[in-house]
Amino acid sequence: MVFDPDNLMKSLAKNNPNFLFYPSSGFNHKNLFKMYYDYDIFILSDYFPRTHGERKKCFKEFRKSDSRLQLYRSTVRSRICRIGYKWVFLFFQDNNEVFERIREAGFKISCFVGVNDGCREGGNYECVNSPRWIEKVFTLFPEEGGLYITDHSPILNVLNVYPYSYDPIYREPYYPEFIFKNWRLKRIHSVYLSLFCSYSYVPGISTVLSLFTYPVAYKVTTHRYKCWKWISKTGILLTIEHDNIANHIDEIDGDIVSIRCFDLIQKLTPDIKAEVEVIYSDWRDNTTQRFTKRILQVAKERKWKIVGTTAYGNGMHEDIFSILDNWKEDYPEALRIFYLDSNDFSDIKYKMEEV
Ligand SMILES: C[S@@+](CC[C@H](N)C(=O)[O-])C[C@H]1O[C@@H](n2cnc3c(N)ncnc32)[C@H](O)[C@@H]1O
Repeated sequence: MVFDPDNLMKSLAKNNPNFLFYPSSGFNHKNLFKMYYDYDIFILSDYFPRTHGERKKCFKEFRKSDSRLQLYRSTVRSRICRIGYKWVFLFFQDNNEVFERIREAGFKISCFVGVNDGCREGGNYECVNSPRWIEKVFTLFPEEGGLYITDHSPILNVLNVYPYSYDPIYREPYYPEFIFKNWRLKRIHSVYLSLFCSYSYVPGISTVLSLFTYPVAYKVTTHRYKCWKWISKTGILLTIEHDNIANHIDEIDGDIVSIRCFDLIQKLTPDIKAEVEVIYSDWRDNTTQRFTKRILQVAKERKWKIVGTTAYGNGMHEDIFSILDNWKEDYPEALRIFYLDSNDFSDIKYKMEEV
């Protein structure tokens, strides 16, 4: 019978293996199989070799990655190997096509590696960390969640080039916690991160200058939306919502956000219809009092019934109550504040009603 990798994948998927997917993997993997103890199946894709000769050469390089690798079967566009009892599938194919094979086989993805995928150099026409890609990947994460390793992300604000990045300051992504669609991302430490530290050449800068990329890891689980409400003496509804403002943009008349948040909203909701007032000055400079008044003033001038914004106030939010209690204008009728860090607003949540 002719060997079919898809049939093999389907039969393996039935046992719910711990499964790692690394698109745009390249062929040099001196480190990857140190993850051997955590993952049962590794699927790698790279469309670089187009001819028989190139595929042979790339596989020869790939085999040098780990002396335990044994070729099990091959087809024109795949090499299937064993490493002990584990499986390694290497596809000489486009990432999207390989993703479809994974989906059709019925695998859940326990770990997704979005590292050095060629979107800067290496010929990729898209980024595997783009919202479109991570949405389809997270959809295949199991109930208990999965691990997401990335060295650059347009939405998490992880840069892919950290000059001399052994300095920890360059390893700090902006969001320790994040909510993307209905997933919650929590940054964690993973012992595997150093395995994916690689060189990168920056276009436009002399290629002599090589820069390190240092990845980060996020645990991705299903997000459970939470909301607390309170009504002021003047009838204004205040809600504190644990969610990404981008998930609610269509429900709000106008939003007041930082430039960074506006950039994020545009990436996540390209056809945004709500009015947006962007605050260019440093968001952290705003005291709770000053900023709450500013929001109310803008809502009044623009006649916004519902005004939305993101967390502010440096952990001190009591003043929001008194300012709303004293606001006697017709607008706004509701103030919705969204936040990402689960512990934020602990100082006032207990005075509100959870809905
Ligand atoms: C810069 S190399 C990095 C390889 C590997 N990630 C590493 O860190 O060593 C990028 C690789 O992505 C591959 N690639 C780019 N776009 C791809 C796509 N759409 N599908 C499959 N492979 C792709 C290229 O062939 C190239 O080998």
